[in-house]
Amino acid sequence: MPFDALRSAPLALGSSAPVAIFDSGLGGLSVLRAVRTALPDERLIYAADSLYAPYGERDDDFIADRTLAIGEWLVSQGAKALVVACNTATSQSIAQARERLPIPVIGVEPGIKPASLTSQTRVVGVLATAVTLRSARFQALAERHTGDCRFILQPGHGLVQAVERCDTDSPELIALLRSYVQPMLDANADTLVLGCTHYPFLDRAIRAIAGDRLALIDTSVAIARQLERQLDSFGLRATPAQAPDIELPRLYSTNDGQALRQLAASLLGLDVTVEHVVIPSRRTRTLESDPV
Ligand code: DGL
Repeated sequence: MPFDALRSAPLALGSSAPVAIFDSGLGGLSVLRAVRTALPDERLIYAADSLYAPYGERDDDFIADRTLAIGEWLVSQGAKALVVACNTATSQSIAQARERLPIPVIGVEPGIKPASLTSQTRVVGVLATAVTLRSARFQALAERHTGDCRFILQPGHGLVQAVERCDTDSPELIALLRSYVQPMLDANADTLVLGCTHYPFLDRAIRAIAGDRLALIDTSVAIARQLERQLDSFGLRATPAQAPDIELPRLYSTNDGQALRQLAASLLGLDVTVEHVVIPSRRTRTLESDPV
């Protein structure tokens, strides 16, 4: 039953059920970090579809197919709400996910609005996947907030792959990032929208290139707040009384999970094992069998 049909009915899900967070890969860990800080009483399940990342190189139907399959799997794990912590998946499939899944679904979008409100030079760089930048959803968002701002749109080819390899500071990565960021600096941008949840893990590398000349806009804290509002409005927020039972987040990956474990440990200080999970979907059934 779609969630809309449940809005007027009492929810059978308990507030102690987990919140699910999903991304094409490791990037959603930046959202998980913000959610853990904002909502420490919530149980969390994280699913990384790293076997099929980056989504930014996939076609729209593939992205929607995987988003729905993983969303359904997370619902089957007892999730009470889903955060699609992927700009690319949100831009292509959030409407279908909301229609299909019987729980609240929270999406993400590049922080165009806060950037346009705060930029002094009125020149704003936007780094996101090519799929996100060309999506109708992003185009509408940019149109709504452009005003007198000039947005420099830059697809971040190669950046998701680097983070998936846990490369956040190699000379090759810095050179690639420089080729994206320097033209923005040359155009007098003072703000950079990190329009992909993988990119906050590159903040130090970006600082190494741009120093303090660019304010970095990362929406993970705003997403955590939106999740909080949704949980409150549906009476699904975990109570502090449930906190003593809280365990560490459960992490799942569709590949061997090594990189997820490494990044969770090094960047979030989370030392947890990652479970491998096979989540079949219409489009992946036609691909070679799982290499893992
Ligand atoms: N973290 C995803 C996003 O926010 C990465 C997309 C991809 O896998 O290309 O867009």
